[in-house]
Amino acid sequence: MPRELFVTTALPYANGSFHIGHVMEYIQADIWVRFMRMAGHTLHFVGADDAHGAPIMLKAEGEGITPEQLVARIAAERPHVLNGFHIAFDHWHSTHSQENTELSQDIYRSLRDGGLIATRTIEQFFDPVKGMFLADRYIKGECPKCGAKDQNGDNCEVCGSVYAPTDLIKPYSTLTGAQPVLRESEHYFFKLSDPRCVAFLQDWTQGNNHQGKARLQPEMLNKAGEWLGAEGKDLADWDISRDAPYFGIPIPDAPGKYFYVWLDAPIGYLASLKSYCAKKGLDFERIVDANNDVEQVHFIGKDIVYFHTLFWPAVLHFSGRKTPDNINVHGFITVSGEKMSKSRGTGISPVRYLDLGMNPEWLRYYIAAKLNGHVEDIDFNPDDFMARVNSDLVGKYVNIASRCARFINDNFAGALSSEPLPTDLLRAAEPGITNLLAHTQDLAAGIAEDYEQRDYARALRLVGTVLDRCNAYIDARKPWVIAKQNPQDPDLQAICTIGLNLFRLATIYLKPVLPVLASQVESFLNITPLQWADAGQLLMPGHVINGYSHLMTRVDAKVLDHLFEPPEPTEPLAAAAEIATEEDADTVAIEPIAAEIGIDDFSKLDLRIARIVNAEQVEGSTKLLRLTLDIGEGRTRNVFSGIKGAYNPEDLIGKSTVMIANLAPRKMKFGVSEGMVLAASGSDEKKQPGLYLLEPHSGAQPGMRIR
Ligand code: MSP
Ligand code: ZN
Repeated sequence: MPRELFVTTALPYANGSFHIGHVMEYIQADIWVRFMRMAGHTLHFVGADDAHGAPIMLKAEGEGITPEQLVARIAAERPHVLNGFHIAFDHWHSTHSQENTELSQDIYRSLRDGGLIATRTIEQFFDPVKGMFLADRYIKGECPKCGAKDQNGDNCEVCGSVYAPTDLIKPYSTLTGAQPVLRESEHYFFKLSDPRCVAFLQDWTQGNNHQGKARLQPEMLNKAGEWLGAEGKDLADWDISRDAPYFGIPIPDAPGKYFYVWLDAPIGYLASLKSYCAKKGLDFERIVDANNDVEQVHFIGKDIVYFHTLFWPAVLHFSGRKTPDNINVHGFITVSGEKMSKSRGTGISPVRYLDLGMNPEWLRYYIAAKLNGHVEDIDFNPDDFMARVNSDLVGKYVNIASRCARFINDNFAGALSSEPLPTDLLRAAEPGITNLLAHTQDLAAGIAEDYEQRDYARALRLVGTVLDRCNAYIDARKPWVIAKQNPQDPDLQAICTIGLNLFRLATIYLKPVLPVLASQVESFLNITPLQWADAGQLLMPGHVINGYSHLMTRVDAKVLDHLFEPPEPTEPLAAAAEIATEEDADTVAIEPIAAEIGIDDFSKLDLRIARIVNAEQVEGSTKLLRLTLDIGEGRTRNVFSGIKGAYNPEDLIGKSTVMIANLAPRKMKFGVSEGMVLAASGSDEKKQPGLYLLEPHSGAQPGMRIR
């Protein structure tokens, strides 16, 4: 039965770039979405930036820009990483949007009309030095429940409890270090302690979804039970208002009051869906209608479970809306066993990973191989990463194609066997399996179940057994020996036909994880895009495949070293060009085409004709030239470009080129770079050496836009 689902990932705060933890969450969700689509279901998969709250306001203030400007700058970075890792969001929006304002205010009004909003004058901490009420996270102190030191003002990372900042023991302002003073302020509360809420949440957390399955993972159900306490008596009312100045959504009929960011953030899921529906002509109200079977599924990390299993369902339910079918919680990713530290910027930068030209599907595969649907942390370990990609993915999987395609293409003009496959050739090398193809086809249902349960590790282990069996089969049948004796031997054709069919089945099973590789395989095998149900069939007798070109290179230890170098945000172009990798002789000629974009994505790039007014060496840099560019703005721009190895500065002066003019300025070791010039380079420096600046046809004037 085809299902319809609305799927989200947590909305990342818009005050920073994506880190590897975000990318891990998106990869987990993206694999699930792709699997479900392959299985014939309809999915609406959306994300958004979580734009509101004090941190963003204060960060913008620190940079001397408006919060809107900060949010826009971060939003502009998102597509590079999302597209780069093939994350197939249908839409990316922002909580700082018309849709979210309307939805949040509507939802609030329903809660209020339902008698679930109360106001109370509370004493709140105020930073006398900074002169503002302190957002929870700017107050630290000891947890009132467990006594842990340096805990945030609203929840404890050690015991997970949620409380008011005034409950903290020995509070201090993290903005100024001052001891905060108490001031009175009227606050708005969502009455979670209302018996209706308690009853609802006890029911909901333990209840089943549209599929008749548990909404929460067992370990999360336990947590929720603890939080609710006996008869739900531990549920406290939730403070949902903040005083101006605050970057957020105004509370209706409450001048100077804003929704706390965690009230409007999850509503941003709906806002993004609404904006997507408007763009696509879909009926938003139908999808979110509580009375239909559309499933709502959220992927989140273990740190934000309280908000998603208690507040969010209650907010939805009591405003008359559909509640989530599943809250899928994952653990955290560490890097070489270390927790990520935002301040030190350690971990792996997703941007750096991409800029180094590393294959995004390596990371997708590696992360998938570690995820099992439980709330467990996983570790990125560079040696393990290299081993798994090189020996499993390239060594076992990609290898099968090259082992078989050769003979089919060279000896049989690309045609698979047209006779029925002989029974004795279908037998596996290991005893007990009489029909290797049927046996592999029969795995489809189990692997599908693993994907749906998010046990990707198990799915990939099963695929691993297929690959091992297939390689053992080829080893045992020795097609190369047959080819020497009789290049036209029908047995040779049959063995390779079986090998390629196994390869095709493995490709179906890997496609949610490796969408781009799968599409390369589809064109190599000369078949239409693979769906899950296609595992029920085999390639037609006599089917003709295309020529084989190498599908995936191995991870190079040198590139991995570059990934772990301390972040020096300079010279990405030159760094990428410098890494010449040892690759197999039959490497693809061009690097794979990036994920498809719409014209809207393209028009975000403001590309201009620039005259190179000056070009000079940069003292102390082996890679950079300093370019002075004129794009007709009445001033010139300073741009550092990693082209020193390719050009003498004198040869560039007076020439025209193309620059991206709306790239956020970037502080580099040698000064601020105000854009980037465009240059062409091959993915493999050895085969296609060099770096070539773009130059327009004559007549193009500085400042002309390229569209
Ligand atoms: N803005 C809130 C979420 C609002 S949802 C309505 C937020 N943002 S976040 O940027 O801090 O985190 C976004 C997601 O990334 C969360 O699901 C969080 O758990 C996840 N991760 C953050 N660090 C992570 C790891 N180290 N590993 C895996 N996921 C991690 O919370
Ligand atoms: Zn605690």
